[in-house]
Amino acid sequence: MFKRLSVVVVFAVALYLVLPGSTFAQPFGYEGTQVCGMCHKSEKAGQQLKIWQESKHAQAFKTLQTPEADKIAADKGIKGKAAEAKECLKCHVSGNDVDKALLGAKFKMEDGVQCETCHGPGSAYKSMAVMKNPEEAKKKGLVALDDKAKLCSQCHNAESPTHKEFKVDEMWAKIAHKVPKG
Ligand code: HEC
Ligand code: HEC
Ligand code: HEC
Ligand code: HEC
Repeated sequence: MFKRLSVVVVFAVALYLVLPGSTFAQPFGYEGTQVCGMCHKSEKAGQQLKIWQESKHAQAFKTLQTPEADKIAADKGIKGKAAEAKECLKCHVSGNDVDKALLGAKFKMEDGVQCETCHGPGSAYKSMAVMKNPEEAKKKGLVALDDKAKLCSQCHNAESPTHKEFKVDEMWAKIAHKVPKG
């Protein structure tokens, strides 16, 4: 009985050692928009970095640093600054609620709603070899985003103190960032 168990344990440890990036390993970490942007900025790639920089998502943290935001927070009974309140950060940034060890050197919470907020933390899928293999990328943390309405409504919902009606197709048109065909 004990012998059996120890065989299982040894096997599990061996598996852990040979399969970094498997379910036994660390959760995936956040790299930051500049890292994604290295390969997703050229015209040929579709200028995702620029499109994001020009979108409101890139400003979502700065928005919390305004007197308007502090007033909204105060009205909700939150003590202190909006930019430090977890009740506000939860939809306005990524990385505020994870172990700091999971934040890469170039990651900036100030970047607000970023690539990895929607696509998933990229530490394990960001390499060229993995990125060129969509199946592998999904195994390594890239989130499949075929249901936009579901994704957007995680934040664009009535829990937002300034919620406005959200029309997914119109709103997507404002931030669409396709890879050009050809
Ligand atoms: C080393 C370069 C490189 C880096 C860094 C990189 N990517 Fe990619 N990415 C690519 C390439 C190449 C493709 C494949 C593009 C194609 O199919 O034409 C790709 C594809 C994608 C796709 C489409 C996947 C699919 O299923 O079609 C998404 C989404 C994506 N990357 C997001 C990201 C995010 C988010 C980051 C940052 C965490 C990132 N990438 C970092 C090179 C990179
Ligand atoms: C993690 C939360 C989050 C998710 C997920 C999210 N958004 Fe947002 N979005 C925000 C926040 C916060 C703002 C406000 C930013 C600001 O004004 O500072 C915003 C603003 C916007 C704006 C600008 C609004 C305007 O009036 O011009 C558009 C467009 C938008 N989002 C589209 C989308 C779409 C489309 C999706 C889904 C594909 C989506 N968002 C998913 C948090 C999110
Ligand atoms: C459920 C997600 C969510 C939460 C929680 C949230 N926000 Fe937002 N916030 C959004 C989205 C999405 C937008 C974009 C406009 C909209 O539809 O409300 C936004 C926009 C804003 C704006 C810009 C207003 C405008 O008219 O564009 C301010 C200011 C703001 N939020 C402050 C706050 C403060 C302060 C808190 C915490 C008390 C907070 N938000 C909590 C999602 C959220
Ligand atoms: C608000 C959420 C959101 C943010 C922020 C965001 N994306 Fe996306 N991205 C999406 C969605 C949703 C799709 C899928 C669109 C579809 O299938 O129609 C997508 C698709 C893509 C694709 C594939 C496009 C194609 O034509 O196949 C790439 C590459 C990509 N995103 C890279 C990035 C990069 C790089 C950033 C940051 C600079 C970023 N995204 C920021 C939601 C987001």
